[in-house]
Amino acid sequence: MDPWKGRDILSIRDFSRADIESVLEAARKAMPIAQGAKTSRSLDGKVLSAMFFEPSTRTRLSFESAMQRLGGRVIGFASPEGTSIQKGETLADTVRMVESYSDVIVLRHPQEGAARLAADFSSRPVINAGDGAGQHPTQTLQDLYTIWEGRGAIEGQTIALVGDLKYGRTVHSLAFALALFGAPLILVSPPELEMPWEIVEGLKETGIPLQATHRLEDVVRAADVLYVTRIQKERFPDPQEYSRVADSYRVDLPLLREAKKDLMIMHPLPRVAEIDPAVDATSHAAYFRQAFNGVPVRMALLEMVLGVRG
Ligand code: NCD
Repeated sequence: MDPWKGRDILSIRDFSRADIESVLEAARKAMPIAQGAKTSRSLDGKVLSAMFFEPSTRTRLSFESAMQRLGGRVIGFASPEGTSIQKGETLADTVRMVESYSDVIVLRHPQEGAARLAADFSSRPVINAGDGAGQHPTQTLQDLYTIWEGRGAIEGQTIALVGDLKYGRTVHSLAFALALFGAPLILVSPPELEMPWEIVEGLKETGIPLQATHRLEDVVRAADVLYVTRIQKERFPDPQEYSRVADSYRVDLPLLREAKKDLMIMHPLPRVAEIDPAVDATSHAAYFRQAFNGVPVRMALLEMVLGVRG
């Protein structure tokens, strides 16, 4: 039996290292199709439902590009406005409907656990495209792909996760995956936005080298990868609290003087002010390549959960 067919993609914690490696290998094979250099009809006749209850540019469009490059189709909504959710329909009811219209569901929602709930009500595979401050497993797979392709390996790379480690779902997912690969981690955040303790405890249990600091300057020399994140304004209960930490870090050219020559700078995007655009032209900047890598990685995942091997 194919262990991937029909599988929900809810949290990176449901993945073994071997699972992740098989996605990365499949993504590498899908690259020429993602780039438009080769064509494929592997998902001909398949329909993806994209249910986005929160803003998205890259995640939604890269899922659409992935599906369409493989000959599939996409239906859905980019915001709950204009749907019956406005009339008070529950997520469970919406999901029950949508599963009968499509072969796979991609869901982004402000509530932690929403994707797991949707999966309980759907016999079709559900892919979590971000559930509040919870998880963002497909982003993690594209982040891992970017490190693996860029550095040749994930194991042994010292990775600094920088910014909003409290509310940022990308770092919540990524930290666990990096620990599976034995990558030393440095957590860099303002005191108010530290990584939740239960995640830190989970990371400690893996035995990887783990450090935490509030000062970005202290880690620039040691890091192989700086994974910079946006302060998640929309998750702050108090706007004043946000304005106190909004400009905590800025990666700019003077900061990078001390960095390793081959330091890779990543960011899930969108960025606000945490990376100076002057950095874009340096060989350190990997974030636009990282955003593109969402296409081959999502192609690989879609083929796998739909039981089609490209
Ligand atoms: C991230 C998200 O939505 O969690 N964006 C993305 O999917 N690339 C990061 C963010 O919004 O800051």
